Amino acid sequence: MADQKSKHATLAIDGVDTPIELPIYSGSLGPDVIDVSKLTGQGYFTYDPGFVSTAACESGITYIDGDQGILLHRGYPIDQLAEKSDYLELCYLLLNGELPSGTAKEEFVSTIKNHTMVNEQLRTFFQGFRPDAHPMAIMCGVVGALSAFYHDSLDIDDEEHRKITAHRLIAKMPTLAAMSYKHSQGQPFIYPRNDMGYAENFLHMMFATPCEEYKVSPTLARAMDRIFLLHADHEQNASTSTVRLAGSTGANPFASVAAGIAALWGPSHGGANEAVLNMLDEIGNVDKIPEYIRKAKDKNDPFRIMGFGHRVYKNYDPRATVMQQTCHEVLEELGVENDPILAMARELERIALEDEYFVEKRLYPNVDFYSGIILKAIGIPVEMFTVIFATGRTPGWIAHWNEMIGSPYKIGRPRQLYTGSPKRDFVEVDKR
Ligand code: SDX
Repeated sequence: MADQKSKHATLAIDGVDTPIELPIYSGSLGPDVIDVSKLTGQGYFTYDPGFVSTAACESGITYIDGDQGILLHRGYPIDQLAEKSDYLELCYLLLNGELPSGTAKEEFVSTIKNHTMVNEQLRTFFQGFRPDAHPMAIMCGVVGALSAFYHDSLDIDDEEHRKITAHRLIAKMPTLAAMSYKHSQGQPFIYPRNDMGYAENFLHMMFATPCEEYKVSPTLARAMDRIFLLHADHEQNASTSTVRLAGSTGANPFASVAAGIAALWGPSHGGANEAVLNMLDEIGNVDKIPEYIRKAKDKNDPFRIMGFGHRVYKNYDPRATVMQQTCHEVLEELGVENDPILAMARELERIALEDEYFVEKRLYPNVDFYSGIILKAIGIPVEMFTVIFATGRTPGWIAHWNEMIGSPYKIGRPRQLYTGSPKRDFVEVDKR
């Protein structure tokens, strides 16, 4: 529990004789928080559209310092994890709070490998979708449908049930993601393989066919693992908050994660990686960049530089730094370091970071700015980009859900500032 210092905030309200004392809590890092829960009893709500200044919960999973551009997972900096760890090890860390021993890591990897298949009946779900269905629409449906198959492990108050559900979700997301892609290609689904690593297995399910042996490039498998790792968790972002809110009603974890997938789909959130590539495609060439920078600055123009800006980071997103490095490595190893899309992205970043509008509003590249370029180089189609994000984010969603369900919690139920009509009597239709 947060450390409640003797510190208080005193709220003086016009016309109210006695100021209201509000307790202040301190965490281990970051700003103190003011507990405003007693305000309802005094006849007030707090008002914070978009939750810009609201801590909705206490958590020990991920810490972000937006001003310093710091991201810690259970205390470990993202750049160290990206360089020295791997995605499944980070999944273990997010779920359990500590890095695994060698034995624990082997057991975890083996457990995940043995949950990668999905029930054969799930395959028929895909026949209900048109081939041109957006894969995020498919993922919203089939992930929620997983709860129709696991009645044996849906007692959310049972720690073992929560554990096997976490393993099932982490293990099956790549399988379902690859199936949503194969469906769009009219190709047969490829079963997961227990002799492959997590990212290698995903790329094999995506691009192999039954007609011949398919060898996944170790370079691309490493890049894919890095992409999953960089998306694994990010504190109380919109989709994670959605998972927590859905889970706070007692909804099962598959349904709660499906709600998170739906929230992630928006172009202001996880849909931005797909939007970045579409934006670069629309800009077309570096000569057009100044025109689009002007559009982005024009209040009357809805155009935004996708992959730029962030609610929390008012500095470089540390994931974008790692992503950019990975981008160079992958494209260089693939012999496409002169990729025109990458050249345009780098020129767009250079111009934007020198522009006073972006400097004054502290807008920097975020995780989505370079990820799409790597995914494109790996051969992932643009419409699959957010599905990759959702797959990578699954351990974060389930770690937050588990953290909430694993300790006393209340159903999330915000209030409002009502500005509608005062009470009035019904008017019969012949009198209107
Ligand atoms: C993710 O929360 C997370 O942690 C999310 C995420 C995660 O890992 O879960 O990090 C993943 O969602 C990253 C963000 C991906 N989205 C985009 O790249 C879309 C483009 N970015 C913007 O839509 C925007 O920056 C947001 C939505 C990301 C943040 O919006 P905020 O915090 O609500 O800030 P804002 O929209 O109020 O912007 C502040 C100002 C505004 O100008 P003023 O009204 O103050 O004059 O900056 C401007 C905005 O117009 N602005 C931009 C801009 N982003 C903000 N102007 C041009 N281009 C942009 N990209």
